[in-house]
Amino acid sequence: MTTYTIAILPGDGIGPEIMAEGIKVLKVIEERNDFSFDLVEAPFGAGAWFSHGKSFPLETQALVDRADAVVKGPIGLDHEKSKQIPVDEQPERGALLPLRKRLDTFANYRPVYLPKSLAHFSPLKPEVVGDGIDILMVRELVGGLYFGAKEMGTDENGKRYVREMLEYDEDQIANILRTGFELAMGRKKVLHNIHKSNVLKSSVLWNEILEEVAKDYPGVEVKHTLVDAAATALCLNPSQFDVMVMENMFGDILSDQGGGILGSLGLMPSACLGPNGKAYYEPSHGSAPDIEGQQIANPYSMIGSMAMMLEYSFGLKQEAANVWDAMQSVFAAGFSTSDLSKPGAGVTMISTSDFGDKVVEHLRANG
Ligand code: IPM
Ligand code: MG
Repeated sequence: MTTYTIAILPGDGIGPEIMAEGIKVLKVIEERNDFSFDLVEAPFGAGAWFSHGKSFPLETQALVDRADAVVKGPIGLDHEKSKQIPVDEQPERGALLPLRKRLDTFANYRPVYLPKSLAHFSPLKPEVVGDGIDILMVRELVGGLYFGAKEMGTDENGKRYVREMLEYDEDQIANILRTGFELAMGRKKVLHNIHKSNVLKSSVLWNEILEEVAKDYPGVEVKHTLVDAAATALCLNPSQFDVMVMENMFGDILSDQGGGILGSLGLMPSACLGPNGKAYYEPSHGSAPDIEGQQIANPYSMIGSMAMMLEYSFGLKQEAANVWDAMQSVFAAGFSTSDLSKPGAGVTMISTSDFGDKVVEHLRANG
């Protein structure tokens, strides 16, 4: 029997609580298929710095190198606690970005998805949400400003300055654009190219390469949108978008806005894919230390990230669909958690763990 090794990095804050629910789901999938999962947990994030002196300890590095896939919870602590950690070991700089670089996960898929039955979660008016929201944001994840050279100093006049480079080479741009085109081919054959070529040279090169790559995808219609205009359009008319492709920082910002139009970042799972099958999966949101341990965080983003792993790392498209379906059915049956919903007519508030149990119950009964 095939055994897949999955590195489990629960992370900080609400990470361990929502990870526990994702693991329940993986156990169901494992039970009814002819493979097994070897789930190996490892320290990662701010907690790892306090317990192991490193936010991305060597044992975790070795594990992610050998694992068939990695699932990661959110990381980070509140502002005061973070300040106890040396700047370069703070988990975003010391763990998360190095993880992305290590696995070279250049393609970050962030679905902004709300079926019509869940449209009430969105803060947008019903006539704007229409039949629901179904966008796939594709963010370049290992280049640009976040990984460019950085310098801070004082100039000859005694003024403090900072310099950060937005760096891409043509292969990095071509790779993420190709990913965008491929995804567009599998959906509506429309690719929204998000850029800022009226100001940034990086976008000029990006668009030049897009013209070249587009030749291999004559069936895909490309629509160009400036990133600032895209932010407005996402609020006014999200249904005009399908696959959106963009560089790292644009994707960081617009995908959070994606969570905003859904009603919560808690509804945002993601897949981070590299070459040679390397991949890790994570919710797009932070670790919400203010609600840690209260069992009120919805595990949707974590379980959804696991569903993406089933699809992209293990080719289990149907099982992934079953997991999505199970989660949506739990909401549709009127259950929610208090991070997502206010008490009110027709909503029964349940805990993080009860939500996971209901997903599992539905999965066993229906898929
Ligand atoms: C995200 C997060 C990260 C990012 C942070 C935690 C470094 O905001 O995954 O969107 O900026 O990429
Ligand atoms: Mg972000």
